Amino acid sequence: MKKCCRLLLTCLMVLLFSAVSLCNAGELKNSANKLEPLEWMSIAPGIWKTVIGEEDDLRLTDLRAAEAKVEALQKMPEVKFPLNKSECKGYVFDGKAAVRLPFGKNEQMYGLGLQFEGMNRQKNVYHLRTDTFNGNSHDRIHAPVPFYVSSEGYGVLINSSRRVSIYAATAHGADDSDIPPRRDRTTDKNWQYITQSSHVEASVSGPGVEIIVFAGPTAMDAVRRYNLYNGGGCLPPKWGLGFWSRFHSQWSADAIAEAADEYAKMDFPLDVVGLEPGWQNWAYPCDYTWNNDRYPDPAGFIKKMSQKGLHVDLWIHAYLHPKSPLYKPMLPLSGSHMMYGGIAPDYSLPDVRDKFSDYMGKTLVDIGVSGLKIDECDGGDDVIWPDHAMFPSGLSGERMRAVYGLYLQKTVYQMYRERNQRTYGLVRASNGGASGYPFVLYSDNYDHSCKLSALCNSSFSGILWTPEIGRVREDDDSIRRMQTVCMSPLAMLNGYSSAAKPWLAGKKGAKAIQDAMQLRMSLLPYLYSTFAEYYFEGTPPIRAMSLCEGYEDKIQVVKGKLNDMDNPYAVSKRIDKSDQYMLGDSLLVAPIIPEKDGTSRSVILPAGKWYDFYTGKFAGEGETINVKVPLDKMALFVKDGGIIPMIKPVQNVASIKDGTKLTVRHYGTKAGSFSLYDDDGKTFDYEKGNFAWIKLTASIDGNGKMTGKAETSGNYKPIYGKITWKFMSLEK
Ligand code: GAL
Repeated sequence: MKKCCRLLLTCLMVLLFSAVSLCNAGELKNSANKLEPLEWMSIAPGIWKTVIGEEDDLRLTDLRAAEAKVEALQKMPEVKFPLNKSECKGYVFDGKAAVRLPFGKNEQMYGLGLQFEGMNRQKNVYHLRTDTFNGNSHDRIHAPVPFYVSSEGYGVLINSSRRVSIYAATAHGADDSDIPPRRDRTTDKNWQYITQSSHVEASVSGPGVEIIVFAGPTAMDAVRRYNLYNGGGCLPPKWGLGFWSRFHSQWSADAIAEAADEYAKMDFPLDVVGLEPGWQNWAYPCDYTWNNDRYPDPAGFIKKMSQKGLHVDLWIHAYLHPKSPLYKPMLPLSGSHMMYGGIAPDYSLPDVRDKFSDYMGKTLVDIGVSGLKIDECDGGDDVIWPDHAMFPSGLSGERMRAVYGLYLQKTVYQMYRERNQRTYGLVRASNGGASGYPFVLYSDNYDHSCKLSALCNSSFSGILWTPEIGRVREDDDSIRRMQTVCMSPLAMLNGYSSAAKPWLAGKKGAKAIQDAMQLRMSLLPYLYSTFAEYYFEGTPPIRAMSLCEGYEDKIQVVKGKLNDMDNPYAVSKRIDKSDQYMLGDSLLVAPIIPEKDGTSRSVILPAGKWYDFYTGKFAGEGETINVKVPLDKMALFVKDGGIIPMIKPVQNVASIKDGTKLTVRHYGTKAGSFSLYDDDGKTFDYEKGNFAWIKLTASIDGNGKMTGKAETSGNYKPIYGKITWKFMSLEK
């Protein structure tokens, strides 16, 4: 009898289980049925959007610095929608809005923000979020930009302020017809856990999501369109491109003035003096009031710096101490949770932005502060600031963390803009849509290779990154890092805790660092024009090699670990070097990492001939070369026909006088041209057309002789005087 009961019970359970399974299968089928083709709407030349479910109330592009640059987009090649529309699908199910887009077997995916490792992003899953503590992961980064760029020449933005999950060709739909051959794990050593699928899937938790597709035809064009859609890249003030030094947090105004003088005496360039938390009475949380023991006369100090041609930048974060004059007015406008014991104002509210700007404008900007370093705006990980935190605007902690850095950039940028004054600053967290903001991401916590990957990867995502250095010792590592710093969007030594000075690298090291810093100053005309290209055409100043012409066929294709060459679905990755990059149109930078390479390294030269920057000698042609680079030099190469306008090294931008002589270097044997840009370097008058272009052209005449010419156009009188041409590869 007992046995019978047990049998009956088992049968009942089996029946129940089958019923549940059937029911689930029904639901799943139902959800699969919801996978619907998408309607695409053209929103700018070569740019289309679709909305799955409901329009989101806060998209990343709502926070961009300026409207799309439609005229510049119109000048780009005419293009068709780059994807097969019938394969683009989406649905909303159980509180998640999802999209599925085609992705070819040989396609490579780049981007997804400030990534610190490698460049190929396919065959991974990302749940993109900002994070303070753990930068060395794919998911938790300071700028989790949900924008990917394909090697096939298009880009896709998941335009959401929610946490975006991206399944980069890892997820196989139950309705996929193109699936990998099934293998028996017991007997087939080529069985694999992840096989490449034929699409990218992305989702957010929310009622809907907007997807924007940017056409090419090249990957670089897709990046350009993305930057132009976001208002164009930023154009920093000229001084921002000089050298920055941040001084010890506990130093007084006198100690800092003395250190700044030392730079001049020792002949090391300096444009920006960075004050760390110690300028305030309270920091962590902040009170935004000057500490009068260390700074008895802030306005006098800033004036003194300015008389020496120096600009002052102040460290802040957003979280307010009860002693701050902003505390009371911001209290009702702040979130439900504290950071470092301070309230977190809701910067999505115009009232909060106004209150900040009024106060900071009067107390800091109007006495001469040139910019801010906005630290800690990544919401401190959910350990401190939980996902479920509430902000008065209705944003949750999770969403606010994604956009906090963007809102702070917007606030500070507007505060300066209202004064027709350009700023350049630092920011700890950013996201999509940020191209137009003059802020550079940073973090002192990474090794040299990670910093290089971040430099390369930032170029896909409309963000800038400085590989800042935190200490200087008598070792090769300090010299090499400092050289990389000098070839980046913002050249900075951050001595906030180490009290580092660039000459602390020993006699030989100090000389090598001085050379690198002075080379940066000499390159200012080239750098500034490179940023103008970012502003007007959307081309990023730092460029990963895979964005550059003639590089594509240099990328090695390797199949997965299992060496399963016959299996098209096997995990294959192209080895894209994320340790070399282009700075502007012509200069290839290949930093040396001493612990990895000593003083030598291999460099992949894209198609065409390349020349050594220092000597003009032929270096190679579309090949991988091995170079040995002494400590006082960098591995720098210029492409055939490349033109680099330079000035004599200066102490700082303020000491560049009207009529400054320009030396224009030409490399190789090919004709070439360069558009040299100039304007006042400090206001927004360029938006009204107050700028000049000097078209520098090198051509070869009938006798094979090379000549250079310069033609100036525009409404501004450029600062440059006599122009001397130097044909670097011909004069030997
Ligand atoms: C860190 C930042 C450093 C320095 C420090 C001051 O968050 O990375 O550069 O500013 O704060 O406390």
